Amino acid sequence: MTKRYLLFMVQVHLNFRLAELESLADMFGLTTIDFSQYDEESPFFVVELENDQQAREWISRSILTRAIYEYWGQGSNYEQLHLDVQENPLYLQLKQEYRESSFKFEFDSFGGSSAGKLDRVACIESFKYLDFQGPIRMKNPEQIFTVIEEYEPLSDNQAGETPLRLFFGREVQRSDRFRGALEKYDLKKRPYKGTTSFEAELSLVSANIAQVKPGTFMYDPFAGTGSFLTAGGHYNAMVIGSDIDGRMIRGKGSQTIRANFKKYQDSLQFLDVLTMDFTHNALRKNLIIDTILCDPPYGIRESIKVLGAKDPERFIGKENVEINGQKAYLLRDYIPTKKPYSLDSLLDDLLHFAVERLPIGGRLAFWMPVANDENIETVIPMHADLELKYNCVQEFNKWSRRLLVYIQRGADYNGPTNMGSERSKERFRDRYFSGFN
Ligand SMILES: C[S@@+](CC[C@H](N)C(=O)[O-])C[C@H]1O[C@@H](n2cnc3c(N)ncnc32)[C@H](O)[C@@H]1O
Repeated sequence: MTKRYLLFMVQVHLNFRLAELESLADMFGLTTIDFSQYDEESPFFVVELENDQQAREWISRSILTRAIYEYWGQGSNYEQLHLDVQENPLYLQLKQEYRESSFKFEFDSFGGSSAGKLDRVACIESFKYLDFQGPIRMKNPEQIFTVIEEYEPLSDNQAGETPLRLFFGREVQRSDRFRGALEKYDLKKRPYKGTTSFEAELSLVSANIAQVKPGTFMYDPFAGTGSFLTAGGHYNAMVIGSDIDGRMIRGKGSQTIRANFKKYQDSLQFLDVLTMDFTHNALRKNLIIDTILCDPPYGIRESIKVLGAKDPERFIGKENVEINGQKAYLLRDYIPTKKPYSLDSLLDDLLHFAVERLPIGGRLAFWMPVANDENIETVIPMHADLELKYNCVQEFNKWSRRLLVYIQRGADYNGPTNMGSERSKERFRDRYFSGFN
């Protein structure tokens, strides 16, 4: 038999919210959740689940949810709420189940608040028909019963005054967000960060949509200051990163990616980082990588470069140059030549790499910049072996970036493909600096 549960979500990054919920549900094998009633406009979503354990697993990692509650009832005012609770088909059973538990009441709200306006003690008293006999305990009670008020905000900055809806439920699981993940990983408090560091909220959401799993192997080929490695480590994956820029990977003094892991007490999750051009990848071919999660160079700060010579003719016959009897390219201070490369080619390489290394069902997730320009169609890279599962957009003023999430389906999948640099008519970097005009 199933029970109803109430999700209380945050009303931000709406584009990513369903993708996160579906990905976490899939990861925990919760295949029967009915998403047909999900409403992007609402922070509330009522679902049927088999038991609390399912609810806990599902929401414990969520960043875009606040908490999940066992659903007891709802109404547009307190009178209706009480009637609805008593008409819940499970009312007598629920009441009996928690009769002797220690408990407390909490109030939460969306779009406004009754704090200071409502006599909360009187409000709690109005639930006395529940006949709870257990002790009231403000610290560590066995059960927390919550009243959630939904208001219609008067404007973006002005809270509403009259509740539209009231919900009542028993708290089952607070999300990772509600337990403090955003404060913990806040970039402001991170020992090692840089201009390319990715903010905490969406890096954790990305790791959830990519289904980074405990004990599995996650790789970020454009690791920079390691924001996605940190997110992967938080979800207990074994993480490895690489970047063409050794300075980024090494950090400086006590400001290193390793120091970040130490601060977060995730050191055991950190395998290592290597200086490496992604397009000359040294990870052995038969190494299975469970998840690839990254933020490839947008080519804004500097144009994209890979190892190689722009003009290879100039180097013919110079491969064996020696300095003091040692091959020049083996010296520690040797600086290899680099050549410009396009974002499209790099993304094609990334898709090919994912097809070679991911197990069936493994996910590739990366961020792709896009110009918000009606005249330019955004063409998403596609590979015949990869299913494009999500395309979540984060809008900025004149550009946007998308989190693209693919699932490895194998050679029999035969999906659409559009490999090749014919995708981009104009380079994102040029368009960015010309103000997208
Ligand atoms: C958008 S940043 C990623 C930042 C990273 N998420 C962080 O937390 O700092 C892109 C990174 O790709 C690296 N990069 C550029 N070209 C590369 C290549 N060919 N191979 C590997 N890394 C490359 C850059 O050095 C840069 O650190």
